[in-house]
Amino acid sequence: MKLKHLYVLAATILLWTLYSSNSSGAGSSNFNCNNCHSGSSNSTTIDSVILRDVANLDKMVKYSPATPYIITIYGSNSGTLNRFGFQMSHGGKGSFSNPSADCQLSGNIWEHKQKISGTSGKFQVSARWNAPAKGSGTVTLEAYLNAVNNDNGTSGDKPSSKFTYSFDELTTSDLAQVEIRIISPSVLDDKNPNEVLTFKAFPTNGGSTPEYQWKVNSKNIGPKGFEDTYITSTLKNSDTVTCWMYSNQFGALPNPASSNKIIRDVRNSPTTGSISQMNKNLPQLTSVQNKLFKLLNTYDIANIEIYSLEGTRLINTRHFPNEIIDLSSLSKGIYIVKIKINHTIYSQKIALD
Ligand code: HEC
Repeated sequence: MKLKHLYVLAATILLWTLYSSNSSGAGSSNFNCNNCHSGSSNSTTIDSVILRDVANLDKMVKYSPATPYIITIYGSNSGTLNRFGFQMSHGGKGSFSNPSADCQLSGNIWEHKQKISGTSGKFQVSARWNAPAKGSGTVTLEAYLNAVNNDNGTSGDKPSSKFTYSFDELTTSDLAQVEIRIISPSVLDDKNPNEVLTFKAFPTNGGSTPEYQWKVNSKNIGPKGFEDTYITSTLKNSDTVTCWMYSNQFGALPNPASSNKIIRDVRNSPTTGSISQMNKNLPQLTSVQNKLFKLLNTYDIANIEIYSLEGTRLINTRHFPNEIIDLSSLSKGIYIVKIKINHTIYSQKIALD
């Protein structure tokens, strides 16, 4: 009699090991856990699914194509069940990667590979979701969470209902940008170190109340606030002014957006060559150091466009007198420059190292 009991026990253990495919992941054909699991009257819910930027952990509201995000599922059981299994499908949009040691991936699915312990009925699990290519459109994630009583069976467990989370792809209409310009004086005096300069920020997709963080040489000037101008008379030669714009438009990215740089150019002694001599020459870009350029021979506002030799426009910017043009975003090569002043266009070629 005792021996028979032992046989039954051994056979049961063998069966458990052979068929314990579910406690070690439900598999793609078992997406709706409610088809088999039941028996508890507690409720199990997926409370939220949050995707965060890998670099700064900001919550994502719309995805940038081909970008990795940290995805976290938060769930809970209202009763005493404190072991969980789950499954999430991305429906073929993007991919999951980097599951934690207690999870696994197969096809479109991310799921538990062993029962995951909760903390007082709260469940949390993270991995990466890698956004699909540009043009993939709305992504819908679907998931089930199953709170179980750890008896290696299907009774006494409580699966959630299906959780669905959809979000859109980021498009250019969501792109936050900020450009800074010197709005006063209109012509800079590069021999006057005490000149009062007014910088102003021009946001794109900044929302109704964008905030700004002005910076000199990358250091914050005061706290961030709603002030879109920065007035100063204390900039030294080659000081750099930039600005970060914090958009409050829903979904606008990046947040903050960082501006172009304006480099103060003020000399203690007059440059050689008189202005009248310089004006005999045409307006042209001249390198001042590495990829920093100055527009010589004009004191007018100009529009500068830079094209590749294949004719693709890479830069299109309004240029104020005496601003330094930073071309460090361009790689080594030869480029065509078009400088438009009033209604005249001047062309030249420049070589970047
Ligand atoms: C086709 C039926 C079926 C479906 C659908 C199903 N399971 Fe199971 N599940 C089982 C069986 C049978 C067991 C017991 C054997 C075992 O542990 O593998 C089980 C056991 C489990 C266990 C261990 C339970 C305990 O109390 O120890 C977990 C966790 C689990 N399943 C998670 C899930 C999740 C999550 C889903 C939905 C994504 C799911 N299952 C869908 C049949 C199913």
